[in-house]
Amino acid sequence: MEKWWQKAVVYQIYPRSFQDSNGDGIGDLQGIIQRIDYLKYLGINTVWLNPIYTSPNDDNGYDISDFRGIMAEFGTMEDFDELVTVLKANGIRIVMDLVLNHTSDEHPWFIEARKSKDNQYRDYYLWAQGYEGKEPTNWESFFGGSLWEHDEMTDEYYLHLFSKKMPDLNWKNEKLRQEMYAIAHFWSEKGVDGFRIDAVVHIDKDTTYPQAANDGGRPYVMADQYYANRECVHDYCQEFHQHVLAGTDIMTVGEAASASIEEALRYTAPSRQEFDMIITFESTSFDIDPMLNPSVPPKWTQKKPDLLEIKASWMKWQDGLYGKGWNTLYWNNHDMPRVVSRYGNDVEYHKESAKMLATVLYGLWGTPYLLQGEEIGMTNVAFETLAEYRDVEIQTFYREALATGSVSHEEAMAMIHSRSRDNARTPMQWDDTIFSGFSDVKPWIGVNKNHAQINVATSMSDDNSILAYYKKLIELRTTSVYSDVLTYGKTTLLLPEHESVFMYTRTWKNQILAVVVNFFETEEQIQLPFTIDTCLLHNYHTLDYVDSILTLRPYEACWFIVSE
Ligand code: GLC
Ligand code: CA
Repeated sequence: MEKWWQKAVVYQIYPRSFQDSNGDGIGDLQGIIQRIDYLKYLGINTVWLNPIYTSPNDDNGYDISDFRGIMAEFGTMEDFDELVTVLKANGIRIVMDLVLNHTSDEHPWFIEARKSKDNQYRDYYLWAQGYEGKEPTNWESFFGGSLWEHDEMTDEYYLHLFSKKMPDLNWKNEKLRQEMYAIAHFWSEKGVDGFRIDAVVHIDKDTTYPQAANDGGRPYVMADQYYANRECVHDYCQEFHQHVLAGTDIMTVGEAASASIEEALRYTAPSRQEFDMIITFESTSFDIDPMLNPSVPPKWTQKKPDLLEIKASWMKWQDGLYGKGWNTLYWNNHDMPRVVSRYGNDVEYHKESAKMLATVLYGLWGTPYLLQGEEIGMTNVAFETLAEYRDVEIQTFYREALATGSVSHEEAMAMIHSRSRDNARTPMQWDDTIFSGFSDVKPWIGVNKNHAQINVATSMSDDNSILAYYKKLIELRTTSVYSDVLTYGKTTLLLPEHESVFMYTRTWKNQILAVVVNFFETEEQIQLPFTIDTCLLHNYHTLDYVDSILTLRPYEACWFIVSE
């Protein structure tokens, strides 16, 4: 059965950094309304908003203190209702971030819960006693350090997978679950079209709290088996489905960092009634190498990606879910460095490589998600001082890395420059004015200096811009006569052993679309096993194709309609 989200192209808005409308340096809801024409121009049909709920902003809104309120800095509930109305009037659907795993420590439930062991909200959270004079377990927080925080008031520890200002909720408590379903209801009744469900695979934990095996050099360790993809998570997802989703066409995308294919099928097979699709992190980990520096968490390391590994991984997901579940496609989000700086070349081949990356990923089967600024090729940023960074994770990382004694200040800063989440969170580059058209005053986080060259205004006046290319690509996927083959076509990998060229076809009814890209900078020649009928998308002006030999220049990339 066809679903609206199968042809969605989802544009992720990080509200804090999209557009400031009232001159306080912080993006807001009225700012998004001001930019609706741009979203229409780009041709996307869905937006996903990062959290806009009331929050003390320890983790930029993922730490929520009122699930039914709007963050004062972003505006009011009237602004939100207006945004929904304006989006809908322009044919754009809205997906909200829904945070079910934790609250802020300033949420009234937690303020109550910590007061005493018999408080009626105590059991909404996860508490344990110390073990041998230390934390209850040696599990590591995703933001570094222990995931336990000692609470003086009752001399117990509470569990927090993320920052210590984000205590985890206890989903084993039925009353808590009902509260969370009611919150989702509240937003669905406001006309929201979908939910991106944050960190959802972590909602159930092993509350016998075993110690995890630790053979590394760090005091705390990741212990996924005790807090990720546990059996009960599926029960809760199904319960969520019954209470919130049944009978609606609300789309759900679960954030499932470490899910395997088998897990993904359990989350997304329509018959199981859990989610429509999930986001995993596999596709954004190809340049990580934990062996490079065992004294820091893996995400801070970096190596050159291996294309064979990328092909194998993508094909595993294309084949594994096709006809059984649904897939997501993304290069960027607010938690990752910018893709053109990771896998492309953001200096000599900025345009070519940014377009190549779009061509190869968004030709695949699945729903594309792109992060604001990706469509103009926004790059990583390198602030000179630690103080210019805003992300809570960066500050913890820096402290812990230096404390190991084996990472210098310079090394830590280099890791932050290439890997930190703030790379994705600098203000949207609308034009070349001092604050990039984002605000009239100094923004909450610095603007990338390259906004003088990389910005929307310049891109709009250039037919050859990355923006023009994304616009074309989005139109092909959503409204053109090729949108069916792009949406439903089966993927077949060609040249599986080639180390630089990525080539595959998508087949649907009697149409065959071929995607051919050179993933790196050296020139490559390949023989095409088909005849080119039409070239739909190409990041160079001419095609070097003689006697069925195609010569691919650095990062050259195409979509063709072909026949066998
Ligand atoms: C998700 C979000 C991330 C946030 C975390 C805690 O991974 O994408 O930004 O820090 O959950 O809510
Ligand atoms: Ca503002």
